[in-house]
Amino acid sequence: MSNSRAPSPAALPVLGHALAFKRDPLGFLQKTARDQGPVARLRLGPLLYHLVSDPALVATVLQDRADRYVRDTRSSRNIRLVTGEGLLCCEGDTWRRHRRLAQPIFHHRRIMALAEIMLRTCEESASRYASAADSSQPLDLASEMSRLTFTIVGRCLFGSELGPRATDVEQAFPVLLEELFNRAQSAVSLPIWLPTPAHRRFQRAIATVDDVVRTVLDERRGATADRPDLLSLLLEARDEDGSRLSEQEVRDHIVTFLLAGHETTASALTWTLCLLATHADTLHAVEAELDATLHGQPLTLDALPKLTHLDAVLRESLRLYPTIWIAERRVTQDDTLGGFDIPAGSTVVISPYVTQRLASHWLDPDAFRPDRFLGDRATRTLAKDGYFPFGAGPHQCIGQHFAMMEAKIALASLLSRFRVHLADEKLPPAWAGITLRPQSTVPIRLTRR
Ligand code: HEM
Repeated sequence: MSNSRAPSPAALPVLGHALAFKRDPLGFLQKTARDQGPVARLRLGPLLYHLVSDPALVATVLQDRADRYVRDTRSSRNIRLVTGEGLLCCEGDTWRRHRRLAQPIFHHRRIMALAEIMLRTCEESASRYASAADSSQPLDLASEMSRLTFTIVGRCLFGSELGPRATDVEQAFPVLLEELFNRAQSAVSLPIWLPTPAHRRFQRAIATVDDVVRTVLDERRGATADRPDLLSLLLEARDEDGSRLSEQEVRDHIVTFLLAGHETTASALTWTLCLLATHADTLHAVEAELDATLHGQPLTLDALPKLTHLDAVLRESLRLYPTIWIAERRVTQDDTLGGFDIPAGSTVVISPYVTQRLASHWLDPDAFRPDRFLGDRATRTLAKDGYFPFGAGPHQCIGQHFAMMEAKIALASLLSRFRVHLADEKLPPAWAGITLRPQSTVPIRLTRR
């Protein structure tokens, strides 16, 4: 190693930067990157972290030297409490096997089959939105989007089999996310088996999810029909040696997809609709594109590739509000990044939120300007260019195409019929929880177009 320490912001004794980070994670990380440069040294209590914000170095960590920067961190150990050995938190050979088995499930061809389910679900919600619009009933945008994406991921996983049990699972997830967030926030967490009230709630929520998944698996085992959902594909998946996923592995994958594929897309939709509601010119451009493509007819899947404005709006929204706003990696061997020492055993922090708003790489970085992703500029989609809302390298989001397809269908279906009006008429403040979401509810009113 070069024996060169990265610069560090002023720190408190013992706590280091823990309080500043906890108080305002987004503001603190952004200011640190701005003041300290591409690599900054941070201490959260006894733990050593480096915030790596420069796009080329982000690509080094996530892609080029991914074998030295592994995901076996405190966060991934917490996620394991919910997903078991799911793709979100396993590493090494176990991760490679799971990724190999799950990758074909998210192949473009498969996503096109699932797109029909997404479209049908969005069209169903449209009739509910119509009665809300006609009766001027206020809605909470964040919970509407959460409900929609949960229904979509549930149906894509299980077909329509969840039925009324969907509500049980849907209600269990906020409890699981709350415990994960509380654990992420505290330097030391109590073992989950200690029977505190919060842990009991968590265990009950896990038991509910497990119960529903087990029941669906049991029902499925007896059935012969070939179905186009993700569960069928997981049950059919074979390793190179012909081995199948065990029942526990199938459960872990299902819970992983429910966890990773629900609030992420819901937050992306919420932010996109908030941005459109506060940027009239862009909204009109999107509406004009929809009108010229659909000619007043219901949305069809073959219209989607023509909606280039909508695509750019979604990408720009994911630049400003990347719903996975932070990723951590444990350093397995001494390294240098940008000339600074990165010792083995420490943790590297990467934040799409910080890097995607760097003034050195983005003109007018805090402005909502979807034209950055139109025409030739549409190719700016790599970590080394400073854009990586779906991560990069081996752990890049496996559900990326699923999420983009789902978000475009949901937006096109809604915006072709309705206008969203924010009760507050301004963008809600962001809250950096497990996902990056509005700080509180987002009251809206819908009108028919
Ligand atoms: C807008 C929506 C989404 C965003 C912004 C998003 C973002 C991300 C990011 C940034 C990562 C990489 C994390 C890291 O490097 O540590 C990731 C990984 C992952 N995502 Fe997504 N995601 C979204 C939707 C989905 C959906 C719909 C699914 C599944 C149905 C999904 C499943 C996963 C899985 C399983 C991983 C782990 C992949 C691996 O390590 O092999 N995500 N996602």
